[in-house]
Amino acid sequence: MHSITVSSLGFIMSQHIIHQKIIQLRAEINQHNYHYYVLDNPQIPDSEYDRLLRELQMLEAQHPELITSDSPTQRVGAAPLNKFAEVSHNIPMLSLANAFEADEVYEFERRIKNKLEQTHIEYAVEPKIDGLAINLRYEKGVLIQAATRGDGRQGEDVTLNIRTIPSIPLRLNGDEIPELLEVRGEVFMTKIGFEQLNQRQIQQQEKIFANPRNAAAGSLRQLDPKITATRSLEFTCYGLGSVSEENLPQNYSDILYWLQGFGLPISRYLQVVDNVQACLEYYQQLLTQRENIPFDIDGVVYKVNPIAWQEALGYISRAPRWALAHKLPSQEALTQVVNIEIQVGRTGALTPVARLAPVVVGGATLTNATLHNQDEIRRKDVRVGDSVIVRRAGDVIPEIVSVMLEKRPENTVMFTMPTHCPVCDSTVVQAEGEAVIRCSGGLFCAAQRKQAIEHFASRKAMNIEGLGEKLVDQLVAGNYVENVADIYTLSATQWANLDRMGNKSANNLLKSLEKSKSTTLSHFLYALGIREVGESTAHLLAQQFGNLEKLMQANKESLQAIPEIGTVIAKNIVTFFSQTHNQTVISQLQSLGIHWQTHEPQVSDLPLTGKIFVLTGTLNNMTRDEAKLRLQTLGAMVSGSISKKTTYAVAGEKAGSKLEKAHALDIKILNEVDFLVLLEKLQ
Ligand code: IVH
Repeated sequence: MHSITVSSLGFIMSQHIIHQKIIQLRAEINQHNYHYYVLDNPQIPDSEYDRLLRELQMLEAQHPELITSDSPTQRVGAAPLNKFAEVSHNIPMLSLANAFEADEVYEFERRIKNKLEQTHIEYAVEPKIDGLAINLRYEKGVLIQAATRGDGRQGEDVTLNIRTIPSIPLRLNGDEIPELLEVRGEVFMTKIGFEQLNQRQIQQQEKIFANPRNAAAGSLRQLDPKITATRSLEFTCYGLGSVSEENLPQNYSDILYWLQGFGLPISRYLQVVDNVQACLEYYQQLLTQRENIPFDIDGVVYKVNPIAWQEALGYISRAPRWALAHKLPSQEALTQVVNIEIQVGRTGALTPVARLAPVVVGGATLTNATLHNQDEIRRKDVRVGDSVIVRRAGDVIPEIVSVMLEKRPENTVMFTMPTHCPVCDSTVVQAEGEAVIRCSGGLFCAAQRKQAIEHFASRKAMNIEGLGEKLVDQLVAGNYVENVADIYTLSATQWANLDRMGNKSANNLLKSLEKSKSTTLSHFLYALGIREVGESTAHLLAQQFGNLEKLMQANKESLQAIPEIGTVIAKNIVTFFSQTHNQTVISQLQSLGIHWQTHEPQVSDLPLTGKIFVLTGTLNNMTRDEAKLRLQTLGAMVSGSISKKTTYAVAGEKAGSKLEKAHALDIKILNEVDFLVLLEKLQ
C-alpha cells in the first residue's frame, strides 16, 4: 500500500517521490557541508541550510523507515554508552620524531639524502595541530567506525562522538571511493570554541578546561554523544590507514587533495616546498602568524612528499623516517607560586596576582600571573607553594592554566580574599552579580588616588606632559594631593622639592599643567575616570550632550537612549555625577581654569541622529503626527515598518503585528511612558 504525506509545501507525495526527495535533500545538504567545511566557501546562507535540514528532518520523522545512519540528520541521537569498546588498528598509528632547533632539521635532511641518494627533496609542510589523532573507517563511502590512537595499536571506539562533528562526512562524495578507506587526522577545538565552552562551563558551574587540547579530549571522552554535539570540534586529515585501492596518488600532497575531493577537510595551510630551507621559512612564517591561526599548534610537520620515497625511507622504532615535527616554543611552563598578592586598581578593584618563581615561556621570563578575582581563585584553588602550569599567549596577560595537585606540599591553605583593602584598610564591597571585590575607600585609598591621578594626567586624558608614575607616587605618599584638582594648586617650589626635580623641570611641569587646561569635553570626561567610560564612550557623550551641565543632569533613561550605552554604563555615569565629592572636584577644576569649547549639538549630532523609530498602536498623550514631528526635531528618522535597522519601536495601545515583529527581531521596545521620558530628557 502506498502511504501519502503532506509536505511542508502542501503537496501530497507518494512514498516513492518522498524517497527521491529525501535522497535529493541529503545530497544537497552534503554538498553544502562540503562547500562550508572543506572548501571554506559556503554557497547558501545558514538560514537556507537550516531550512533544508528541517525539511529533511520532517520527512524522515514522517517516514522513519527511510532513515539511514549516514543521513545528515543522524549525527546525534544514540543513547549514552557505559564504556567505549576497544578497537585494534590494522596499521599502527605512529608518532613523529621531534626537532627543536634548525640544526636538527638539517640533520634530518642529510639522513634522508644519504639514504635515498638524492640531492633534491620535495616536502609537504603543514601545522602540527594540538589535538587528538583519530582513525576514521569508511566502508563503501560510509563512516562506520572512528577510533582514538590509544597506544598506537589499540584505541577506543568513539564513533558516536565523532559522528557529531559537522566537518566529518558521514558519507563520502564521488564515484570512485575505495571499498575500504581509513583516514587519519586530528580532532581539535578552535580557540574561539574553547573560550565559549569555558564561558558556558563557568555559567553552569562546571569544570573549566585548561586548554583547547584538553577540552577536545574531554569532549571526545564523553559517554553521552549529546554532550559532545554541543562542543565545537573540528577535524583535519593528515594521512591514511588501511585502503583497498592499489593505485593511490603518488605524492602525499596529492593524497590529501584526493581525500579533499571526497569531502574530507585538509589543512588550509598545506604547502609543497622544494628544500629544507623553505621548510624553515615556513616555520618562521607560522611562528609569527601563530596568534592569528584559529587553533592551537605546537609545531610544524615536514613530510617527504613522494610516496615512493616515503616507502624507501621506512620507519624507525615508532616514527617514520620521512617526517619530522619541528616544535614551536611552548606557550606553557611549569613553575611555583611564591606568593599571592592583591593589587588595587584605579576603580578600587582588588585583583589577586600570583608571584611566580621566574620561568621562561616562549622566549620571555614570567614572574607574575593574574588570578582575576575570587571566583577564579576558588575555581582553580591556587595556593602559595603550589606547582602550576602557566601559559603565555602573545600579548595576553599570563595565566595559571592548572595546579598540579599531586605536587602540592603539605599544610597549604586555601587563599581567601581580604575583607579590608591592603592599601588603605577600608572595608571591601562586592556589587550584586559582580565577581570583583572593590575597596570602598575611593580617593581616600592611596592606590586609587595614585592611579586616578595617573589616569587623569595620561596622554588621552588631560595630557599633562612630564607628570608620570614616579612623580605621582611622591605626591600621594607625601600627601600633597587629595584629588586631581590639587595638582593644579602646587607651587613651583613644591614641585622643585620633589625627588629628581629641579627648578627647570618644575617650571616645565607648570607649563604643561597650564597647557593642559585648554582641553575638550571628551578628553575631560575620559580624564574623570568614570568606571567603564573609555575614550570612545567619552567622545560619544560629549557629542550627544554638547555640554557638561546637561550630561551631569542626565538620568539613566536618557543615557540608555544612546544605543552604545547600556544599563551598567548609564548607572555608572549617573552615580558618578550624583556624588558631591565628584561635583566639588569638577567645579574646582573649572575654577582653576580647565576649559573647553562647548557647542550645542549640531544638526548632524542631534541626540537622535541616526536612530530609526517605528510608531505602532495608539498613544494617549499625543497624535502619531505629533510624535513623529517631535522625534524628527531630535534628529530621528521615523519609518513605517520594522526592519533589522529599526532602533526603537514605540508601542502604544493595541499595538499589533509591528510589535510582534519587533519582538521577533529583538528590537528595543518603548512603551508610552518610556517614550515620554525619553522625549522630555532630550528636549
Ligand atoms: S602525521 C606517521 N601530521 O602529532 C605520521 N601528525 O606526534 C603520523 N599531529 O599522533 C602523524 N598534526 O596526533 C601528523 N599534520 C600532522 C599532525 C600530526 C598533529 C599529531 C598526531 C600524531 C602526533 C605525532
